[in-house]
Amino acid sequence: MTSTTPAVEAKNLFKVFGRNASAAVERLKSGASRSDVAAKGNTAAVIDASFTVNPGEIFVIMGLSGSGKSTIIRMLNGLLEPTAGDVTVQGHSIGSASSSELRAIRQRSISMVFQHFALLPHRTVIDNAAYALEIQGVGKDERRARAMEILEKVGLGDRAEAMPDELSGGMRQRVGLARALTAGTDILLMDEAFSALDPLIRREMQEQLVELQQELGRTIIFITHDLNEAMFLGDRIAVMRDGRIVQNGTPEEILTDPANDYVAQFVQDVDRARVLTASSVMEAPAAMVPVSAGVRGALKVMRDLQSGSVLVTDGRRLIGAVTDRAVVRAVKNGNTDLRSIVRGSAAVVGPDEPLADVIERSVESPVPIAVVDESGRLLGTIPRVVLLAALGNVEPTTTEIPVIDVPMTVPVAEISETLAAVGGAADPVDTATEGGV
Ligand SMILES: Nc1ncnc2c1ncn2[C@@H]1O[C@H](COP(=O)(O)OP(=O)(O)O)[C@@H](O)[C@H]1O
Ligand SMILES: [Mg+2]
Repeated sequence: MTSTTPAVEAKNLFKVFGRNASAAVERLKSGASRSDVAAKGNTAAVIDASFTVNPGEIFVIMGLSGSGKSTIIRMLNGLLEPTAGDVTVQGHSIGSASSSELRAIRQRSISMVFQHFALLPHRTVIDNAAYALEIQGVGKDERRARAMEILEKVGLGDRAEAMPDELSGGMRQRVGLARALTAGTDILLMDEAFSALDPLIRREMQEQLVELQQELGRTIIFITHDLNEAMFLGDRIAVMRDGRIVQNGTPEEILTDPANDYVAQFVQDVDRARVLTASSVMEAPAAMVPVSAGVRGALKVMRDLQSGSVLVTDGRRLIGAVTDRAVVRAVKNGNTDLRSIVRGSAAVVGPDEPLADVIERSVESPVPIAVVDESGRLLGTIPRVVLLAALGNVEPTTTEIPVIDVPMTVPVAEISETLAAVGGAADPVDTATEGGV
């Protein structure tokens, strides 16, 4: 297997329950609806589902109860045979695998975590966690050592010798997760694994899963009916409705560009602050000036845009911001060196930061939020109004009027006076703002 081989690939999968299922698939293929086949006594649980899961990603399948999620996941590990279509796991077709090959794939490649922990009640935590290795014939010392390592990671190192009924629901689910991780398979299937947990514990488990995923680099296919959970966990999300995948995309794509009204309605209530990132809402910075333009350039931009602050760049790197007040004060004190009065901006965020974190910075900072890449290059800004509009899912009207975050705090007349003092005549015609990136 090469690194470009998909972890899992589903190709035109159908699962129809009931008699003459194959005939029902043919009817579906030639345009019959789910209710058409239901009229003949068949349940079309999964209809023409295709998707590719890349190694190392968290792929979420989301949909309401009955939409076909569990049926899909059971076809992925061969528990259910597709009525039509095929599944490949790390390049191996499940459809053409013999039963011993299938067993081998399940042992080596795919393990599953269920909603109801399915722990063995008469075994200790560590023996539950080591169970898959025991099945694989790994010796006692080694399997316990490997299970212990994973138990430490999920925060159960000190409960290794406890029995399942001595644990809380959240802890038991951690044992379930530890058991799947200890199995050492590359791919983890999780069917509503956190749905039975209390909200706070559930949130903790989600965060821990993301951390573990980053540390261990497994591929996770996670099923949920909870959109916020899907958005938090998913690198990509397949949205299901009535057996079909109606959209497959990143959380941001699904939120900002829903494929149809159904998805749009579904995402209406999502916690946008946790899903949207800085780069998805940033705009080309209006109030910016190269440091070489000097105090005069900065003043002109602020006057022309009626902005109380301006970002200062050196080449394409952001070096900070100045406020109108600071510039006027400096000039009065005889200092016209722009570089010396630039303040590092507190409101610098990376392109991938969630808006929830951006809001925090924005509260702390009087100047606009600057989005900057790893090398310090200015990518854009997020005016506060744009931030609020994005969270409220309304259009900010920023196309006609440049939205300036911080209104002027110094009267325009005083800015013009200061401009004159540094050798800039009142030349409103020359309003080059050096805007754009
Ligand atoms: N073994 C089965 N026999 C008949 N119908 C089934 C079977 N398993 C699931 N279904 C039906 O298939 C549809 C999809 O079910 P399921 O995949 O469990 O949905 P989800 O996991 O999204 O809640 C439902 O209508 C369900 O009743
Ligand atoms: Mg289900």
